[in-house]
This record gives sequence, C-alpha cells and structure tokens, in this order.
Amino acid sequence: MTPKVFVTRPLPAQAIEMLGARFQVEVHPQDSPLPRDRLIEACRDVDGLLVAGTRVTEDLLRAAPKLRAISTASVGYDNIDIAACTARGIPVTNAPGVLEETTADLTFALLLAVARRVVEGDRCVREGRWGEWQWGLLHGANIHHTTLGLYGFGNIGQAVARRGRGFFMRILYHARHRVAETIERELEARYVDRETLLRESDFVSLHIPLTADTTHAIQARELNLMKPSAFLINASRGKVVDEEALVEALERKQIAGAGLDVFEHEPRVHPKLLTMPNVVLLPHVGTATVETRLKMAMLAAESLIAVLEGQRVANVVNPEVYGSTRRHNNLPS
Ligand code: DGY
Repeated sequence: MTPKVFVTRPLPAQAIEMLGARFQVEVHPQDSPLPRDRLIEACRDVDGLLVAGTRVTEDLLRAAPKLRAISTASVGYDNIDIAACTARGIPVTNAPGVLEETTADLTFALLLAVARRVVEGDRCVREGRWGEWQWGLLHGANIHHTTLGLYGFGNIGQAVARRGRGFFMRILYHARHRVAETIERELEARYVDRETLLRESDFVSLHIPLTADTTHAIQARELNLMKPSAFLINASRGKVVDEEALVEALERKQIAGAGLDVFEHEPRVHPKLLTMPNVVLLPHVGTATVETRLKMAMLAAESLIAVLEGQRVANVVNPEVYGSTRRHNNLPS
C-alpha cells in the first residue's frame, strides 16, 4: 500500500509534488492551524507527518498508530513532544542549514529598526506629521562601534555576529559551550559569562532554543543587569523572555527598547507592548523570504521521504530513536 502523508500547511507546490510522487498526500489547504480534533482525525492512518508550527503532542501520537516519521519545516522543534516521539520510535527531523542567514538578516533588521526608530519615522511621514527638517526629530542610538551581546552562539548567533562585525561592533557571546577558537578569532567574538554579557552589551540578541531550561531565561533579574541605554532583540522563541517582566522593564526605562519577532503567547502580544513606540514588533517572520521558505519546505519533504524510505538522515533531532527498543518500522540501526 502506498504510504500516506499529511501536510499541515499549504507548502510550495514543488515540495508537495515531490511527496506526491511517492506517497498519498493530503494537505491542509489553509495557512492556519487545523482545529485539534480535525488534526487528530487527519493523522489517524498516516505514515508521515509534515508540520510547520503545528503542535505535536502525546494525544496526537496516540491517535496515529501508523505514524513513523515526522518532519518539521523549521529549525526549532519546541512544538513537538520529542520525548513522546522517541518513546514511540518515531524519528523527528528539522530543517537546519537553510534558514540561518535569513534569520540573522531579520534579527539585524529589528536591531537597526529599533535603534534608529525606523517604524516611528515611517509613521510620522505617512501620517503627515512631518512638517520640515528638524534638529530634534527622532534621535536614535548608534549601532556602529557599540557592543553586541549574543546570548546563544549557534549558526544564527554567529551569522548575526558577522553582520555586527560589518558595523564595527564589539562582539560578546555567551552560550552553554564555548565555540572553537578559530570561530572566535574569525568573528572577533569574546566569550563572557551571562552577567557580563547583560551588563556590557548595548544590544542583547537572543539565539537560544526553547527548552525547559531556557524558558524565561530573560526575566526581571536579567533585565535589571542591562544598561538603561540597551536594547533587547528576540527572534528566537517568545517564551525565553518573561514578557511581563520585559514590559515592566520598558515601563521603568530599565532598558531603552526592544525588537521582537516572537512572543510568549503567540499570536497574542502583551497589550502594553502594542502601545510602546520604542518597541518594534514583527509577526514571527524570521525565516519568511520566498527563497528560504522554499528551501525549508524542500528540506522538510526530502527528510520525510528519506525517513519513510528507511534512511538515516543527519537532521534527526532525536537520534536516540535509532537505539530505541520500541517497535519500529523500517529503522536503520
Ligand atoms: C524556525 O525555523 O524555528 C522558525 O522559527 C520557523 O519559522
């Protein structure tokens, strides 16, 4: 029987066609989350699932006994209960290596926009509030020759560092593990402890994955260490920041502003953030370029095919599944 695959978003036709050449494919045609009960129903007899931002939980897995491969068209996989997948012997793949530079571009766009008050300026012009050249109009903060603090220094953090070097910024980073000396040298990046990073940076940019350990990694204590002139940039995951504490810090002028592409309770945004001119808000579009979204979809489709055809791929996020003694389904050892 031809294996069945369910795709939870209307991904580019090229990716769907590639899947369709091998599997029986059903695609949720709307670019919005399926109601939970309909999603579970759609997964009942599928062999493979391709998701993007869709929550994959234990109850869904329980309802999908034939499921033997999950692929997410994203680098983050905090939306998937990985432990539950591993326990059922289901490999989960993600999409690394195709979106880091694009996400770094967006991170830098947020940084530039909030420091130089780009959104405020745009509104001023559109709303006809710009009368004539003014000395005192929209003074912002310098970016060049300031200090960029990268919290998390994987591929995206390093790509942001490269952009920072182009602006002659001093690069500090903090991460669980120090990177190789060759990388530190190439990026002129100095490893520091968390406290030094927060105290010394003019821009603190977050590039950590969301895990139980990193939830609310930035809360009042961390924000209090930052300079009143500093900005917080977050294009990683919303839940790494305690949004209530961020709002308070902004209200108290503990920090100068924030550039946010992600939020603690997406798509809800703290109502006070919506009123703050020194905050730039984006709707989680870090990877949203035509080229990159196509690459993400293709990689996700290729990975799903490979796993369903019994191949072992490098981008499996739970490789321990291959050692699993639970049932499986074609798993190479
Ligand atoms: C990712 O790749 O994790 C992005 O946040 C999805 O757009």
